[in-house]
Amino acid sequence: MTKTTTTVPHDLAGWLDANDQRLHDDLFEFLRIPSVSARTEHNKDTARAAAWLHERLQRIGFTTRTMPTKGHPLVLAEWRKAPAGAPTVLVYGHYDVQPPEPLELWTSPAFEPTLRDGNIYARGSVDDKGQLWAHVAALEAHLATRATLPVNVIVLAEGEEEVGSDHLAPFIEKHKAQLACGAVIISDSAMFAPGIPSILSSLRGLAYFQVDVTGPNSDLHSGMYGGAVVNPAAALARIIASFHDADGRVAIAGFYDAVRDFPPAVREGMKSLPFDEGDFKKHLDVAALGGEPGYTTLEKLWTRPTCEVNGLLSGYTGEGAKTVLPGKAMVKVSCRLVPDQDPAVVARAFEAHVKAVAPAGVKVTVTTLHGGHPWRAELAGPLYESASRALAAAFGRKPVITGEGGSIPVVNDFARILGAPVLLIGFGLPGENAHAPDEWISQDNFRRGMRALATLWDELGAHGV
Ligand code: BES
Ligand code: ZN
Repeated sequence: MTKTTTTVPHDLAGWLDANDQRLHDDLFEFLRIPSVSARTEHNKDTARAAAWLHERLQRIGFTTRTMPTKGHPLVLAEWRKAPAGAPTVLVYGHYDVQPPEPLELWTSPAFEPTLRDGNIYARGSVDDKGQLWAHVAALEAHLATRATLPVNVIVLAEGEEEVGSDHLAPFIEKHKAQLACGAVIISDSAMFAPGIPSILSSLRGLAYFQVDVTGPNSDLHSGMYGGAVVNPAAALARIIASFHDADGRVAIAGFYDAVRDFPPAVREGMKSLPFDEGDFKKHLDVAALGGEPGYTTLEKLWTRPTCEVNGLLSGYTGEGAKTVLPGKAMVKVSCRLVPDQDPAVVARAFEAHVKAVAPAGVKVTVTTLHGGHPWRAELAGPLYESASRALAAAFGRKPVITGEGGSIPVVNDFARILGAPVLLIGFGLPGENAHAPDEWISQDNFRRGMRALATLWDELGAHGV
């Protein structure tokens, strides 16, 4: 039934094999809890997911506390009985999930986990409950077979990652002595391709805005007023069109000032990855790609900043025609950032740009909704070598180094506040539908992920961080 490789220590692999069904059952139980952090009507479910995780960590031998925040609770679990001199590692994950809508596009219900074609389908299966659970299972494998762990472990799980992690950085700052560690380990990302384990070397940051354009004090008859009154929807279209130049570069003054090029070796590494642009376009059903000239698609996704419209609202959008000049218009915009861009500096540049291009006759307001710093790893030292060996043992080949276009804002906070290197090894796959209907995690990756993590604790115990 399960496929294991001989290089994973025998006792751990044997235990994971023997407990495979129970570990799946537990994950399914976790996935059935609709812990949607964005929706207050799910607050009880989010609390229930925290309590569920708390109970499991407690049960496997961790000293566990659930810490309230002004938002959703944090679960903090510790096991500190490793041999003297052993390193301490912090495992971070999130138990909250994105809203499941649109529900009608799910093949099986979002909160009824279903195994189909070797994949586990459910909201949160890959982002991030399945990956967080793989960590807990790997820790249990050690404690159940050997009654000890080769490293001291802190597990910190939050319930607000999908809504911006507002309360996590202040928590880390306040408890930095207790959270002191030699490395932070996170599985909340994807591998480059099936069968190719991956170590993530960068994440983009984020600056998210809402722009509201208000014109006349009410919607107007488009015949009686159109032509003389500035149309907020058209004004907003002009503002949006000004975000990029004709070549596809972001045209906001100062936007690129702090951008630091990726080292040539990293860019070369990206070029050597087996990426097929034709397949990429086919998968998305688009005839052409866009963006800045002079960069490969992977470089555009992983190493370059963006300014993208995420949502747009104005005027009559119902059935048939209605002759109306809308009184207002709104757009949501997210800028993905790369080192060393600062979300606060980008926010000022964005606001100044919008104000400068806004036509007379409408009022324009810019609201910053949330932000996060970009992150780049150093990727040297025993931590990464251990990770490389552990992944090779479980997947039967050495990992590749990848970048990522998405954001995990707290990664930069961990590195900055705790001064520890961060290791990002994820077990998702391209096409996993994170945040979309039919989210899935590959069952084979879930199993190999548990084995890789169980091996990683041995590697870190033997070689340090
Ligand atoms: N797990 C993702 C981030 C991610 C996606 C990492 C793909 C690697 C590959 C995370 O849960 C997420 O979606 N983050 C948000 C940021 C947040 C502030 C809403 C994102 O990137 O949009
Ligand atoms: Zn996530």
